[in-house]
Formats: sequence, structure tokens, C-alpha cells
Amino acid sequence: MKVTVCREAHFNAAHRIYNTSWDDEKNARVFGLCSLPNFHGHNYDLIVKLTGEINPDTGYVFDMKVLKDIIEAQIIQRYDHRNLNLDVPEFSERIPSAENIAISIWEILRKEISQEYQIQVVLYETPRNFVEYPATHL
Ligand code: NI
Repeated sequence: MKVTVCREAHFNAAHRIYNTSWDDEKNARVFGLCSLPNFHGHNYDLIVKLTGEINPDTGYVFDMKVLKDIIEAQIIQRYDHRNLNLDVPEFSERIPSAENIAISIWEILRKEISQEYQIQVVLYETPRNFVEYPATHL
């Protein structure tokens, strides 16, 4: 019987939505305020979900202290108070949209967490706009 366990975390970061293969005029037209050249910030709320079997020895699916420490060391330390476009290597090529940030977080966590667990990332860019990766309704 599988159960999903969830851990919430938080980071603040700046970004700018900008496609480097377009000129400034097209970026401004497509992205509007999100593309202003001097960047803007978000208070990101992150929910990491792990799905797996309950370990009969502990009653746990996953030790939440361990999950907390992985998120802190691998995600928060990497993204918190950073300019995602300028400071974080994966976004030199990839536009730091909420979608792409969620994918990057999933890719980092996938290397840290045993394959016996499914991982899902939910990332709130604002209280009303959030994304889920992998997609839930395929
Ligand atoms: Ni933004």
C-alpha cells in the first residue's frame, strides 16, 4: 500500500523571463512586466511529494528529517536569495519560468532520492499561480 508524504519549503529568488533568441522588443511584447530588464522577485513555496511503500520497521514512507535536509542542502541553498538568471547555472540556457524551475528541482531531487520513490514537485510562484511536475493529468 503506497502513501504520499509531503514536505513544504520556501525560498525567495529574483528572475526575469527572457528568451535570448528574441530581441528586446519581442520579449517585452510576449512577456510584458515579467521581462523587465532589472528583474523582479517571488516568494516561492515548494512542496515535494514522495510516494512509496510504508517501511514496516518505522511506519514511515520516508524519514521527513532526511527529506527536509535534502531539500535544504540541494534546493534552498542553491536558489534562496539568488538571481536565477545570473546565479544559477541551469538557467543560463533554460528560461526560469515556474515550469522550468519545477523541472530543475525535480531533476536535482531525482539524483538524491532512491528510485523506489516517485517524486512530484509543486511550486507556487504566487499564492494563485502554481505548477506541478511531473504533470498530473497525462
Ligand atoms: Ni516572475
